Amino acid sequence: MDAGLKTISIGMLGAGVVGSQVARLLQSDRQELSDRSGALLVLKKVGVRTLSAREGIDTSMITTDLNSIVTDPEINIVIEVMGGIEPARTLILEAIKNKKSVITANKALLATHGHELFNAADAAKVDLYYEAAVAGAIPIIRSMRESLAGDQITRVMGIVNGTTNYILTKMHEEGREFADVLKEAQALGYAEADPSADIEGHDAAAKAALLASLAFHSTVTIDEVYCEGITKISIDDVNAAKAMKAVIKLLAIAEITVNDEISVRVHPVMLPISHPLASVRDAFNAVYVESEAAGELMFYGRGAGGAPTASAILGDLVAVTRHRAYSTVGYGESDYADLDIAPTSQVRSQFFVRLHVADKSGVLASIAQTFASEDISIQTVRQAGMGKDAELIVVTHKASEDALDACVKKLSKMEIVTKVESVIRVEGAVS
Ligand code: HSE
Repeated sequence: MDAGLKTISIGMLGAGVVGSQVARLLQSDRQELSDRSGALLVLKKVGVRTLSAREGIDTSMITTDLNSIVTDPEINIVIEVMGGIEPARTLILEAIKNKKSVITANKALLATHGHELFNAADAAKVDLYYEAAVAGAIPIIRSMRESLAGDQITRVMGIVNGTTNYILTKMHEEGREFADVLKEAQALGYAEADPSADIEGHDAAAKAALLASLAFHSTVTIDEVYCEGITKISIDDVNAAKAMKAVIKLLAIAEITVNDEISVRVHPVMLPISHPLASVRDAFNAVYVESEAAGELMFYGRGAGGAPTASAILGDLVAVTRHRAYSTVGYGESDYADLDIAPTSQVRSQFFVRLHVADKSGVLASIAQTFASEDISIQTVRQAGMGKDAELIVVTHKASEDALDACVKKLSKMEIVTKVESVIRVEGAVS
């Protein structure tokens, strides 16, 4: 190790699953990190909410005085892995005010207050890096912000939540019900005791906002993301998808509409098994990017967990440290395009509609007529089951959400319709 190297002192906010891995790797890979960044990286303080011994972290570093970390004149870089909006937002703003570069994994914070934080970092001429905030170890932020900076991204579709992908994979492969697999996911530690952020789609929505902002050079916040989780997906939907050589995935989608607006949403999607995202199994994440010149790209890997997330943080740390050595900063927020968000009601998709109907003559014609009354063209219809109550599966051509909603309302009121069981958006050649 070069004794003449400058020392860069690091303060870390949080010492949970990710923080403890960052501390471990900073220690075990000290030499490589120093060779790669051109400075000696030293963890000086670790802030926690409640004092207790943390494996691999010297107790003398641990403090509950979080403010003392962001105001410490000797600390150059703050790593925020505590999560939540407050006090993380105030602490990061204070760190930036004190000229510290910041590395954060906090998607909820960036998807809510990112614009304020990036502006503050810009004004203070420090870095605010966040590779770990979207899809853990997958280097998607740097790829979109730097490698694809010369291209025009048209659409991003991501499996960005491992818990829901694990649940949907098990439902598809083992034929088990949602509630049963959720319990297993909780026992395995994939899903939180309160799994709502994952299964209701909010975690994916924060990531969708960050991906949309990057892809389309505009500020997109989490409250602008249409969000629908996987709690209504039943084993019957999964089996119907299987019969159509398709799978159901929870996707975060950001795309440019024909009106040059951003459509950004999280919802279950039926994908043909030939689509690259269909083969992403278990808790893995993947982001599929379509751009004008590069065409289609897919990034795949581990989207959560201590060591994978720490890998992304340490990558940021090396980059930020090198910037410090050259008294420069890297890419900040790029929001020059300032595009509007498209109203979800007008977004056009193909739809899978599963309904139970009376099995008698003329029913199919009446159902088709109802779709036609909302100007929705049908691609395929199949009937499963016979007798009093038949199951109809309709796949439509592209239609607006408004038209589909109106059609479902009409269907639900028809005497021959026992129940509209489910409506799932379809992507690609499913029929
Ligand atoms: N809970 C998330 C997941 C990881 O299941 O992927 C953190 O965003």
